[in-house]
Amino acid sequence: MSRMVIEGGKRLEGKVEVHGSKNAVLPILAATVLGNGISVIHDCPKLKDVASSIEILRGLGCKVSWQNNTVIINSENIFTHYIPEKLMREMRSSIIFLGAIISRCRKATISMPGGCELGPRPIDLHIKAFRQLGIKIDESHGYISCSVDKIACGDIHLDFPSVGATENIMLVASLAKGVTTINNAAKEPEIVDLQNFLNKMGAKIRGAGSSIITINGVDKLSSVEYRAIPDRIVAATYLSAAAITGGYVTVNNLIPSHISSVCSVLRECGCKLQQEANAITIKAPKRPLPVDFVRTLPYPGFPTDAQSPLMAVLSVASGTSIIAENMFENRFKHVAELNRMGADIKVDGRIAVTRGVERLSGAKISATDLRGAAALVIAGLNADGITEVDGMHHLDRGYESFEKSLSKLGAKIKRVD
Ligand code: UD1
Repeated sequence: MSRMVIEGGKRLEGKVEVHGSKNAVLPILAATVLGNGISVIHDCPKLKDVASSIEILRGLGCKVSWQNNTVIINSENIFTHYIPEKLMREMRSSIIFLGAIISRCRKATISMPGGCELGPRPIDLHIKAFRQLGIKIDESHGYISCSVDKIACGDIHLDFPSVGATENIMLVASLAKGVTTINNAAKEPEIVDLQNFLNKMGAKIRGAGSSIITINGVDKLSSVEYRAIPDRIVAATYLSAAAITGGYVTVNNLIPSHISSVCSVLRECGCKLQQEANAITIKAPKRPLPVDFVRTLPYPGFPTDAQSPLMAVLSVASGTSIIAENMFENRFKHVAELNRMGADIKVDGRIAVTRGVERLSGAKISATDLRGAAALVIAGLNADGITEVDGMHHLDRGYESFEKSLSKLGAKIKRVD
């Protein structure tokens, strides 16, 4: 288990590069199973969740290798439709492989994804949609077994625009005979990226990015070469790190429209943002201004994944800010740790009220989830004295070389194993 040791109080300055999007790459890696050939995916970040997906692919029979940040997957010889419990437990989003395996093998068996650090994270929407697609599902002894002869295409309405459920339906419907429509689909950029990837393979999908996605099933998909979009949450995290240190930073390799909700809140905090085609330069005030009310919502609303880094920023704002977390019930676990650092944050259910303090103070704290880990590290950048954050295996699920990038910007940060 490693921890980060940070000497706070250094203003971040310079340029930082955003890596490929984890949440785009994970479903794309699952989708390579549909190809029956050699797929080449560029800009894959070297993260624990990506490594877990690669282990699942290998377990299914794929040959996978890395070349720098490119992953090469040969999916010609898939010999099983089963993902063992150990691999399912490593990463909850492995549920996305269910759709991919059903699509390729017409059957799939996985262990039930357990609860996670963000709360129970049910999969009822996935299961309901699969049943509507004519897939027989048996849930027993902690396993989900699926089988289908012929996918029953048709209209599917999602009660909530779940990202994972939308992706799973796209994967299953791409190789079905007929037309499937997803109503109230998730609109996240990662859904658009999956559509682009599948269409490059030969699928006929349109509408991603809107709430209605139409999939015309095709007989066969071919393996292709593809580059994933940049990670909008990593971009939002670097902007937050600049904001909490009164910094002046250019964040390169991002798509500004993907983080417009985050930029709008940072402007409210008094930050000046200058946008280019693939970069944003942030000039933050010495101390952030408070924001009235931020709600996490499905895209294009404020992303739940950027909530904790923003809260770190607001913890040192010159007034009181309110955040409503509408997506996941347990996503305020970083609050107790921020309060250990001298923050003044009160939580009631889904609402967090943050009274900004002048400055945080260094403390020994623990991260318990991915984005919370990032928030605590950037809080340490502001704090007076030394902050030690343990639980960095959570951070490693979503940020490649985080401390190296922050060091280049002038942070005093090191990892201790
Ligand atoms: C994805 C992202 C995650 C992000 C989340 C919301 C990946 C790998 N992960 O997760 O980083 O925080 O979107 O933007 O892309 N729900 C149900 N039943 C279901 C499915 C979901 O009730 O069957 C609920 C969830 O508990 C949650 C909400 O719907 O409250 C959103 O979940 P969903 O959009 O499915 O998120 P994920 O795909 O798991």
